Amino acid sequence: MSYQDQGETEISTLTGFALETGEKAKGTGQITQLLLSLFTAVKDISYAVRKAGIVQLYGPTNVTVKEVKELDVFANNLIINTLRSSFGTSVLVSEGSKHAIIIEPEKRGKYVVCFDPLDGTNNIHCLAPVGTIFVIYRRKSTGEPSQDDALQSGRNAVVAGYALYGSATMMVVAMDCGVNTFLLDPDIGEFILVHKNVQIRNKGSIYSINEGYTKDFESAVLEYLQSKKSPQDSTAPYAARYIGSLVADVHRTLVYGGIFLYPPNEMYPQGKLRLLYECNPLAFIIERAGGLATTGKESVLDIVPTEIHQKIPLILGSPEDVKDFLKIYKKYEKPVCKCCPH
Ligand code: AMP
Ligand code: AHG
Ligand code: MN
Repeated sequence: MSYQDQGETEISTLTGFALETGEKAKGTGQITQLLLSLFTAVKDISYAVRKAGIVQLYGPTNVTVKEVKELDVFANNLIINTLRSSFGTSVLVSEGSKHAIIIEPEKRGKYVVCFDPLDGTNNIHCLAPVGTIFVIYRRKSTGEPSQDDALQSGRNAVVAGYALYGSATMMVVAMDCGVNTFLLDPDIGEFILVHKNVQIRNKGSIYSINEGYTKDFESAVLEYLQSKKSPQDSTAPYAARYIGSLVADVHRTLVYGGIFLYPPNEMYPQGKLRLLYECNPLAFIIERAGGLATTGKESVLDIVPTEIHQKIPLILGSPEDVKDFLKIYKKYEKPVCKCCPH
């Protein structure tokens, strides 16, 4: 669906994009219905995020963690109920739910959705950007669905995306055809296509990491950061940017190029970010845009998950920046000893 704006250019909406892609695919329409439902839920979350502060100001006290939790719970419940009513899913995995959600038989569809309903909420009090992240897989198994249906490598993703609730609300959606971005026009309540087939810069000039954990960083990370701060050659040092909201840090990396790193630290020895509903969808998007996403040891999208909330280290961004990191990382990798047990 599109409409002329003052007759100059044709404007495409996310709704129209999903319908057209669905029509071309000559499928059953199930994933299109799932996507349209999800996009509606995102608009509701965007509205709630922007109203939360006002509601809280009239509330009995200043903003409290409890009220932020309410936003988390609201977003989680909304997405679960929306996907359930889309008749397109059988298994859901959410950061906000301890166990996988198995959809009741009469509402089941052929897809699995892993999502982070509201990422970065620790930042919401200061109005820093927050986001929603999702990835959609086809169910592989037949018979009774289970959480194992969600334990698929990111390479199997059909669609992945995120909503960024920032100075504007943007949907970034990655499919086989590439990565497209859509801005929410609040006047008409539609997401408008703004960038088609987004490609990340080959090399950027920004590194993004929480340097508060420097005392815990592996030698490879320390050496890499040093090489960005004090380059041996004539190149200029990189700028440091860290918002602490994953969707915002990744979106800036997609738009400006550069590298984002969340390596292991003392508090999170496996890394903090979750494979199923943070790392895989974002890695899928970044790789579809021509970038790379790795744990240091392996490509994120190659990992076969073993647990629905498992955590991994995440390094992603412009291909040349990630390759520069991997060159240093490989120097420190201990050779795998064939004869010794793991
Ligand atoms: P369906 O039977 O409508 O769920 O679609 C079958 C397959 O076609 C999906 O698993 C996708 O690979 C592709 N497809 C159909 N519609 C869409 C859409 N709107 N966006 C992206 N892929 C789609
Ligand atoms: P969530 O709000 O879903 O729990 O995720 C928070 C994550 C992510 O948004 C961000 O990249 C990271 O926490 C920031 O962690 P640090 O505060 O340790 O840097
Ligand atoms: Mn998160």
